[in-house]
Amino acid sequence: MRLVGISGSLRPGSYNTALIRAAAGELPRGAELVEVGELALRLLPFYDEALDARNAVSAVASLRRTLAEADAVLIATPEYNGSMPGVLKNFLDWASRPFPGNSLLDKPVAVLGASTGYFGAAWAQADLRRVLKVMGACVLESELRVPAAHTAFTEDGRLRDPAHAAALRAIVRELVAEPVPCAA
Ligand code: FNR
Repeated sequence: MRLVGISGSLRPGSYNTALIRAAAGELPRGAELVEVGELALRLLPFYDEALDARNAVSAVASLRRTLAEADAVLIATPEYNGSMPGVLKNFLDWASRPFPGNSLLDKPVAVLGASTGYFGAAWAQADLRRVLKVMGACVLESELRVPAAHTAFTEDGRLRDPAHAAALRAIVRELVAEPVPCAA
C-alpha cells in the first residue's frame, strides 16, 4: 500500500508539511508514504493547455506517474485568503489532465489542513474538496482542521491535541482500508 502525501505549502517549517509527516507516523505496517516535496511543486510551470498538449514538461510526467502509482493520496492545505494556495491549485490543474482518465480519477484522497487562524483552513479544505470531486477523485468525508497551528505540534512533530491525533490516525486508517467507499 503506497500513499502519496502532498503539502500545499512551500514554506520551510510548514505546519501542513508537519501534518503530512505526522500522518506518515500513523501508517500501519506494510504501508508507506511518499512525499511530493516542495521541489516537485516548484518545478511545475503555471498550467498552460498548449504546453500540456506538447507533453514537454518532464516534471509533469513524473508527477502524474507518482500519482498513478499511488493507492491513495493525502493532501494537507494551508489557507491563503480563504482558499488553497495557488501552488496547490496549479498542481491540481496539472494532475487533472488528461480528463477523463487523470491519475486521481476514482483514487481515494483525504484532505487535511492547518492554519494559524481559528478555523484550521476550513475554507481552503472545502475548496480543495470541491476541486478534487470535479476531477473525479474519491474524496473521504472525514476531515481534520488544525487551528492555531503554531501551537499544535510537539517538538517531535506529533499533534498535541489528543482529539486531533486520533482524527489523523482514523483518517490514515480509513485511507489504507480497502476498498474505500467512494461517495458519488
Ligand atoms: C495566511 N494565513 C491565513 N490563515 C487563515 O486561517 N485564513 C486565511 O485566509 C489566511 N490567509 C493567509 C494568506 C497569506 C498570503 C498567508 C501567507 C497566510 C495564515 C496561514 O494559515 C499560515 O501562514 C500557515 O502557517 C500557512 O501554512 P504552512 O505554510 O504553515 O503550512
